[in-house]
Amino acid sequence: MRAIIVHGGAGRWGEDRLKNALPVLRKAVEVGYSLLEEGDPMGAVEEAVKILEDSPYFNAGKGSVLSIDGSLEMDACIVQDEPRTVGAVIGVRRVKNPITLARIVAERTSHHIMYGEGAERLARIFNLPEGNLVTDYARKRLEKVREKLLKEEIGDELSLMSRTVDLIRKYPHLFIGTVGAVATDGKVVVAGTSTGGTSIKLPGRVGDTPIPGAGTWAEDGCGASATGIGEGIIQILLTKTLCEMVKRGFPLQEAANRVVGMTKYPVGVIAVNREGKTVLAYNTDSMPVAVKTEEKKEVEIHGV
Ligand code: GLY
Repeated sequence: MRAIIVHGGAGRWGEDRLKNALPVLRKAVEVGYSLLEEGDPMGAVEEAVKILEDSPYFNAGKGSVLSIDGSLEMDACIVQDEPRTVGAVIGVRRVKNPITLARIVAERTSHHIMYGEGAERLARIFNLPEGNLVTDYARKRLEKVREKLLKEEIGDELSLMSRTVDLIRKYPHLFIGTVGAVATDGKVVVAGTSTGGTSIKLPGRVGDTPIPGAGTWAEDGCGASATGIGEGIIQILLTKTLCEMVKRGFPLQEAANRVVGMTKYPVGVIAVNREGKTVLAYNTDSMPVAVKTEEKKEVEIHGV
């Protein structure tokens, strides 16, 4: 059974941002599903994530949040279960669609993970579009978050740096989640995730998204993409753990609920199995998700 599920990130979504984001999620799932019908599950996940990267309403690609010094560092990962195909990029700054570069790492190199300038160079070899992805909105948002935290919380930048993750947990409404898609054509399962990381992170910090088995994984007819505070997701290798639980016989929804319950950090996950079942679980206010399956054919929205 064909199925695709796409998420726009766990967190607290304002009404305006949600209103703008939902049509983009719908489009992503429709485009992804049409590629599934053409027998291209890798393409389905890549194109769905690309649509979210190209929208300013999500924390990935064009809408990426910024590090504490105002710099942009994006991560992405794509994994197929069989044959096992893994590609990830870390800390890219100019590549318009990091998920496409992750796919190139997976399919066109003999490596699995590339970072920084070497990854950018690969993108240039493959003529991937570049752009200045630091938007005015992201700059203003970073300023607002920094001002609020410096005024209300700490008073100096050094302590702000040492407490990034605690602050994200304390002020969840100031931070926005990552994007991802998971799809199956009934034969293979593919998961992809893309992110600008977490707001006010230290430059050079790597989150869960590009770490196979943490933010993104697919194995034996199960695939998952996570969102939320990467440190919490890395601690439990959330997506790998979910697929392991399914292998041990847990129903997909129960496995998703359990992994989300294993951490005190704000997180969410979407997952798909080869039979075309799609699930979501999150411990935040919301996690907008769009789903299309062979069974139902209509796009469904959940998590809001
Ligand atoms: N989940 C995205 C990150 O923490 O970087």
